[in-house]
Amino acid sequence: MSSDPDTPDTAAGDWLFKQSCEFERGVTAIDQLPPADRPEFAFAGRSNVGKSSLLNALTHQTHLARVSNTPGRTQQLNFFRLPADKLGAFLVDLPGYGYAKAPKKDARRWTDLMMAYLRGRPTLKRVFLLIDARHGLKSTDAPFVSAFDDSAVSYQIVLTKTDKLKPGELVRVRESTLAALKAHVAAHPRLIESSSVLGTGLAELRGEIAALIDVPALGYKSAPLRRGGGKE
Ligand code: GTP
Ligand code: MG
Repeated sequence: MSSDPDTPDTAAGDWLFKQSCEFERGVTAIDQLPPADRPEFAFAGRSNVGKSSLLNALTHQTHLARVSNTPGRTQQLNFFRLPADKLGAFLVDLPGYGYAKAPKKDARRWTDLMMAYLRGRPTLKRVFLLIDARHGLKSTDAPFVSAFDDSAVSYQIVLTKTDKLKPGELVRVRESTLAALKAHVAAHPRLIESSSVLGTGLAELRGEIAALIDVPALGYKSAPLRRGGGKE
């Protein structure tokens, strides 16, 4: 358990993400969504930002979600069950937006589907909005940020690929992103800095998710309280 009250319980997150995680279904139209019967967490962001890689890293798998050097690889809303065999959570890998070379008609269709999903899903607990740490927030992110603000969808920024930055550059992008977020009411105030390559930020992210679902009901037992307070 973290001693900082502002950071989530990483032990619960570690436990949760050691459970098996399996592909549920790929969705290409809004009527194909699985039943809204459990908390849901979606990973959104520009094409190639590292959504599928982050999902694989979180779940300790290499091929759960498809990763590619070709932008626009994820072409449906991919739902994963965590744990695979219990009514726990859905993790959702979303198609990337902002890929300049995608045919306009396709890009429009994906954006419409994602917007409809992101705005209208009652069980969507949080959207993790991934931002490439080398680039920061871009104009292509703006329609999503506004949609989240308008529909009060709780979202949290995750900087990705931080392994590609020098420490000074990371400080700058952290500060500019936090400053840009101040104007956005639905944005979670805590920023997560991640690298799927180095494993940075994964424990924090797992903890954020575990804190929003009923992990004891899934079998998680927190560490016993020590005599005199605190946890072991
Ligand atoms: P789309 O599905 O096309 O929207 O892409 P995506 O956001 O799912 O990105 P994906 O996970 O497929 O990763 C895109 C590229 O970035 C791949 O070549 C990954 O290996 C690379 N990548 C992802 N995360 C990291 C990271 O943390 N560090 C570094 N150095 N590369 C990464
Ligand atoms: Mg992807």
